[in-house]
Amino acid sequence: MKKIVLFASGNGTNAENIIKHFKDSSLANVAAVFVNNPRAKVIQRAKNHKVEVFLFEKEQLNNGFVLDELNKIQPDLIVLAGFLWMFPISIIKKYPNQVINIHPALLPKYGGKGMYGMNVHEAVLENKERETGITIHFVNEHYDEGEFIFQQATNIEDCKTADEIAKKVHELEQKYFPQVIEKLITNH
Ligand code: GAR
Repeated sequence: MKKIVLFASGNGTNAENIIKHFKDSSLANVAAVFVNNPRAKVIQRAKNHKVEVFLFEKEQLNNGFVLDELNKIQPDLIVLAGFLWMFPISIIKKYPNQVINIHPALLPKYGGKGMYGMNVHEAVLENKERETGITIHFVNEHYDEGEFIFQQATNIEDCKTADEIAKKVHELEQKYFPQVIEKLITNH
């Protein structure tokens, strides 16, 4: 049985969707959710599914404490599912090609520092883009620049607000993220 560890910072709809997807799987399960924000809704979502939550502070992410906790679990895949801090190079080095992220846009557009959540959708709306989408990619030491694993576009010509764009992107995330993880785990 393969082990997936999730990192999340906020609402946790992606984290919960992944937990549900693998709940009865014979291939993999979610071993823990690592959370950097004590007020994040993802904590309750994980607990509802009896998945262990590990809460940490910025210092612990960068001083080896989080890495030590991960090493106890020995995950096959580390998934950043709405995780908004820079991910430390020490963990990427220890788990090469095993850390992936989802970004709510078609990278390399709308990536980089400050480009997360609604900021992305507002910028997409502002620029009157005809399409947006999701990118799932390996994580390296630069924000949103690791090798792409999967992209899916959606037409947004009918969207008048950033919320409408967010809804379409959310639908793509819910549909594709667990599938892409499953494929990666299978080929690993
Ligand atoms: C998701 O849309 C995810 O793609 C995005 O944050 C949202 C988290 O929602 N991630 C980023 O912007 C990373 N740069 P969730 O907490 O409900 O899963």
